[in-house]
Amino acid sequence: MRLPFKNNSSLLTLILCLHFLLVSGQKKIPQIKLEKGQTSTEFIEAKIDSIIAVLTLEEKVALTHAQSKFSAKGVARLGIPEVWMSDGPHGVREEISWDAWSEAGWTNDAITAFPALTCLAASFNPKLSRDYGFSLGEEARYREKDILLGPGVNIYRTPMNGRNFEYLGEDPFLASTMVVPYIKGVQENGVAACVKHFALNNQEHWRDKINVEVSDRALYEIYLPAFKAAVQKGNVWSLMGAYNKFRGQYTTHHKILNKILKNDWGFDGVVISDWGSGHSTKEAALYGLDIEMGTGTDGLGTGADNHYEYYYLAKPFLKAIKNGELSEDLVDDKVRRILRLIYRTSLNSNRALGKLNTKEHHEVARKVATDGIVLLKNEDNFFPVKDKKGLKIAVIGENATRDMTRGGGSSQLKPLFEISPLEGLKTRYKNAAIIHTMGYESGASAYDKTLPATLNQDSLYVKAIEVAKKADVVLFIGGLNKSYHQDSEGDDREVFALPYGQEKLLNGINEVNKNVGFLLVTGNAVAMPWISKTKGILQTWYLGSMAGHAIADIVSGDANPSGKLPFSFPKKLTDNAAHSFGEVSYPGDGVNQYYKEDILVGYRWFDTKEIAPQFAFGYGLSYSDFKISNIKIDQKKYRINDKIKVTLDVSNIGSRPGSEVVQVYIGKHKSKVKRALKELKGFSKVYLDKGDKKNTTITIDVSQLAYYNTKISDWSVEKGTYYLYVGNASNNIVKKIKFVLF
Ligand code: BGC
Repeated sequence: MRLPFKNNSSLLTLILCLHFLLVSGQKKIPQIKLEKGQTSTEFIEAKIDSIIAVLTLEEKVALTHAQSKFSAKGVARLGIPEVWMSDGPHGVREEISWDAWSEAGWTNDAITAFPALTCLAASFNPKLSRDYGFSLGEEARYREKDILLGPGVNIYRTPMNGRNFEYLGEDPFLASTMVVPYIKGVQENGVAACVKHFALNNQEHWRDKINVEVSDRALYEIYLPAFKAAVQKGNVWSLMGAYNKFRGQYTTHHKILNKILKNDWGFDGVVISDWGSGHSTKEAALYGLDIEMGTGTDGLGTGADNHYEYYYLAKPFLKAIKNGELSEDLVDDKVRRILRLIYRTSLNSNRALGKLNTKEHHEVARKVATDGIVLLKNEDNFFPVKDKKGLKIAVIGENATRDMTRGGGSSQLKPLFEISPLEGLKTRYKNAAIIHTMGYESGASAYDKTLPATLNQDSLYVKAIEVAKKADVVLFIGGLNKSYHQDSEGDDREVFALPYGQEKLLNGINEVNKNVGFLLVTGNAVAMPWISKTKGILQTWYLGSMAGHAIADIVSGDANPSGKLPFSFPKKLTDNAAHSFGEVSYPGDGVNQYYKEDILVGYRWFDTKEIAPQFAFGYGLSYSDFKISNIKIDQKKYRINDKIKVTLDVSNIGSRPGSEVVQVYIGKHKSKVKRALKELKGFSKVYLDKGDKKNTTITIDVSQLAYYNTKISDWSVEKGTYYLYVGNASNNIVKKIKFVLF
């Protein structure tokens, strides 16, 4: 239950003073006054000290574990509020029952669904990421949440991972750049972001038990940078552990939490377990877990008064401290962090009240969606499709009308509305005739299974061919969905191909109509043997509340596509690095898996091994044409502390306004250690009216060129020759420039 005085820090002080009067003779509360020159941080830290001094051991332990599915206890007698959490990461989840996963059935918890994080990453637009985070934070605040369980920054290692849609792609620099403004935006509202899942949770299959073996270089260079940026640049207030193991230890209470996260990076926030990822009192106590959530208690939920008391960080923790097996300092450190989070959130009397479902939020959702849609193919300028009288547009495919905010696992949302692609197109197209037919049916999604289709697939097929035959243009709206074994939590995809007979249907349509554009609704790459059967392809992700409007913006040409792929699309699965090493690498043998591709994840693999992807990282077309010219760097030689200044001109030489994403990659020539050919080190999204030209500067710290040196367990910058590559996709480089580090 929420306390009525949750925002009132002076009340807390008052209660503490009263308590002091009552208990004087026991522990004393230090008198706290903001001294001249004392910062509010120092003030809060002093307050926290004073609170810890008066908490009983029972009260301290009570702070470190759940009291319900999504909340943890406060200390009512001192006015210390409970901590309320909600998923994340694309919107604030509906209220869940106190003690069960069922929906609580509230009528006032419908929200704005923002586009999935793959779409945000594809926007390559950090400013929009801040707007996204801020709007989402406002909604979380309005819904009285203290922690929003997102964003997710697990690296896209395989297209089979059911949860890739919740993450920011395959590149650590892109994910780091995009995650920081999101976190800041959320936290501006006095709501903590919770970056997840730390670490190496790169597949859902066997996620509860798989042990990841990976080199230190891949760990530090590929899998940790976005978390590090979240901590050091985003100042994130909480972080979630993961389910899997790493080098034999569960990641939720792993020595890397103390060593890397809290010690090396200076994280002063709260580590929260994933729901049910805690496994041991001793490890949780010793290895950095601060709040334990979601632990299964073997049916105690029905048999015991309060099964939360049986969590690893509940009674067993209390007992171990009391009998001296574990030191009280351990719980004090956890409590200090939790109180710090409470001061940053619910006891921050300056935080605004938040907002829900405002026009601004819907506009942000639409803008992110239009900015993130990627135009993959556009033969004969298939897109945009003009709204002409007499034009017959067939819209075929289940995803034209399927609700995509339901399903998918914990990121499932209850939006106030969700504009389907069909609805969006119908709203936009006033002159052309739109005829819709389903084409195939996938079956409803349930949590851990897919329910069978209920309609006759043959009839759907025949009808679709009939409709396609009579149309001038076919928009095929298909892809994956949020059902189990598709883009969904809990397990991975089972096949790389398009499911539900879509390939057959597309081939059939192509025989009667050559004018086909495919709107691919997925959070993952799919096999595209059918690519020549389409004239245009748009990668439209999962777009949330405003999906249909954003799709209509792009299809009609009201907006010009400017998204770029945040991960590579392989032609076949074995072209992907993780899969090329076989099962030992993905998905492992049920006990262990070895990240054999090491640092060569995503485009790093394609580039270095000279394998042509279907579509490359950073790739995306526009309805306009751009030219990048006059590319220069400010020096030929740099020292380790220097910055490299890249200047260039971007011109819009096409016929519409639009944006281009200029990308700068750097690679070491003849390195003494294993390296990718090149790595993304800077980018800039430049908006230009038609005919316009802008001079752009991209600055790169030389220190960013460091590799993780396992000989010294630290970062090293190698001297010698490097190449800087500038282009508008990882496989479309306009200029390569040599420079030297000395
Ligand atoms: C997911 C988390 C989520 C949590 C709470 C877990 O199954 O892995 O990402 O925040 O549930 O719903």
